[in-house]
Amino acid sequence: MTMKAVLASTALSLFVGVAAHAQETIDHAKAHEEFEKFRAEMEDSNPAELFALKGQELWHAKRGPKNVSLHETCDLGLGIGKLEGAYVHMPRYFKDADAVMDAERRIVWCMVEKQGFKFEDIAKKPFMGANDTQAPDITNLVTYIAEKSRNMKFAVDLKDPKVREIYEIGKEIVNYRAGPFDFACNTCHGTDGRRIRMQNLPNLAKPEGAAKGVLGWPGYRMTGGVMLTHQWRMNDCFRQQRFPEPKYASDLITALLTYMTANANGVVYKGPGIKR
Ligand code: HEC
Repeated sequence: MTMKAVLASTALSLFVGVAAHAQETIDHAKAHEEFEKFRAEMEDSNPAELFALKGQELWHAKRGPKNVSLHETCDLGLGIGKLEGAYVHMPRYFKDADAVMDAERRIVWCMVEKQGFKFEDIAKKPFMGANDTQAPDITNLVTYIAEKSRNMKFAVDLKDPKVREIYEIGKEIVNYRAGPFDFACNTCHGTDGRRIRMQNLPNLAKPEGAAKGVLGWPGYRMTGGVMLTHQWRMNDCFRQQRFPEPKYASDLITALLTYMTANANGVVYKGPGIKR
């Protein structure tokens, strides 16, 4: 289904719900008009944009105990203040941290090292929950940075031996079976055309499947109306796998994101997306 089709069908089901509720008061013509307005609005604007805007403000604001902005201190791999294309080149190796990092982890690193925030404070609530009215700062920041790579190709540098090593670890994790059901990621994602509860599960080992796994993240999730990052997606699949949730911004998540993103190398990133 295309994004427009997804939006239209969601809009339609919302509309049916609203209409059933207010059947007595709204006549058909009026309802139709309301629906058309709603649909047009949804097609024109992905709510993710609002989170990206907040992220832009945060990126430029002097914040934290050290009162500096990320814009003047944080290097996402292309130089301080250079944001275009940074997202599609991550995960990458960062010399100053001596680690391969994905976008979310790198921004957290900058918030801690440059701005002086405490990692534990950020990790306390890194993801937006269904009852939250606002996304955590880190989600807004990731969304902003991702937006800056819209229409650019994924280009994880597998020629860098440090990145290659992490990629291979990611590949092992994807095949590693454990937990009460003896599941690996590949139990659900390793074959073509597998589905759970009507959801198509991408085969992450193949370029097309890997692309499905990375496109549209960070994403605005219609269910719950929440903005979520790729890191969140990984955590949620660990839950599906009945594994303990990994530590926030851990090596393990970076390894998985390196594996998937590199498998999607060459695919054009369409920016933050909308997910069911
Ligand atoms: C028990 C089955 C199961 C296991 C095991 C599992 N997943 Fe998933 N995964 C799902 C389901 C179901 C969805 C779709 C959820 C949705 O759309 O709401 C999903 C979605 C995803 C997506 C997002 C796809 C998209 O369209 O955006 C990625 C990426 C992903 N999984 C990666 C992984 C990784 C990596 C692992 C191993 C750590 C893993 N999954 C383990 C069931 C599983």
